[in-house]
Amino acid sequence: MKAFTKNKYGGPEILRLEEVELPELKEGHLIVKIFANSANPADWHILRGKPFLARFATGLFKPKEKILGTDFAGIVEQVGKNTSRFKVGDKVFGESTTSGVFAEYACVAENICAKIPDGMKFSEMACLPIAGLTALQALITHGQIQKGETVLINGASGGVGHFAIQIAKAYGANVTAVCSTKNADFVKSLGADNVIAYDKENIHQHTGEYNLVVDTNGNLNFQDYKRMGQRGVMVGFTTMGQMASVLLKKTFSKFPIVQFTAEATPKDLETLSSLLKEGKIKVHIDRIFSYEQIPDAISYIEAMRTRGKVAMIWESIEGENDIK
Ligand SMILES: NC(=O)c1ccc[n+]([C@@H]2O[C@H](COP(=O)([O-])OP(=O)(O)OC[C@H]3O[C@@H](n4cnc5c(N)ncnc54)[C@H](OP(=O)(O)O)[C@@H]3O)[C@@H](O)[C@H]2O)c1
Repeated sequence: MKAFTKNKYGGPEILRLEEVELPELKEGHLIVKIFANSANPADWHILRGKPFLARFATGLFKPKEKILGTDFAGIVEQVGKNTSRFKVGDKVFGESTTSGVFAEYACVAENICAKIPDGMKFSEMACLPIAGLTALQALITHGQIQKGETVLINGASGGVGHFAIQIAKAYGANVTAVCSTKNADFVKSLGADNVIAYDKENIHQHTGEYNLVVDTNGNLNFQDYKRMGQRGVMVGFTTMGQMASVLLKKTFSKFPIVQFTAEATPKDLETLSSLLKEGKIKVHIDRIFSYEQIPDAISYIEAMRTRGKVAMIWESIEGENDIK
């Protein structure tokens, strides 16, 4: 099968499209034929081995996993022993926590997958896992947003942010979105009640007050959270120093800030697919790349200026071949 492989840390240019062995089916796992992937900042963090501390998990001197990729959508080809939720032919999507899905086939644990509802596109479903789970868990699991509350979402126009606006609205919150001027109309179209263009107003001097502050961009400092919010959720970080500073100050304060790593659970994946099916959220795809262009897709999102999501397609599916 074809797969994008790496045998050292580096930029997208080190990725090679190679013929490799089909993955072996493991207990509790599925073999999925991949139809679409999406790109996430996690992919280039893993590819580059940055931040360096993460190499204790991904391999200190060279990557442990040969094949890159976390978000996928496809069709179950084989089911392993001790699986119960899927059968051959089911359409599934999910987040591989062990990489390995930028390939024609992948072996993935069944507990990081959920079924794709009828009528949904593979490209859209592949965009949901990491960004959608992160938005959902930031707002609901950790942010505990309640109907009628106000939330400020910093970094509202990217993968996580554009889902966060829509999920917050679906749960009845009033949303203030922070993005660049060029994305103001976009975030309004997703339901944002108010917009702060960070290139016109300095967010570090913003005096608005909110029940919850969610920072996907990761440039808010501890004082920003305290000044603007009653509670905070840190999703992204700009530098390790910035994150460490917020977390250090939090340990000496009663102000509630949560920093978390999103987890793929069947329940949360199903919540996301229901929200999509019911039309409460939609996936905005900024660009679709072919699978041969996966390195270009990674370079594109590395600029951190994506509007919504970037998808990559393995199979030419009717209505989904609008590759740019
Ligand atoms: N904790 C977790 O489990 C978890 C999971 C997923 C992602 N993350 C992290 O969350 C962050 C966002 O991920 P993503 O997938 O949403 O990335 P993305 O799709 O690349 O989006 C980045 C967004 O950041 C915005 N941005 C850039 N500079 C900004 C600024 N100064 N102020 C406010 N917004 C700014 C951009 O909007 P404009 O173009 O309008 O500037 C862009 O839309 C990344 O750091 C990622 O590593 C964490």
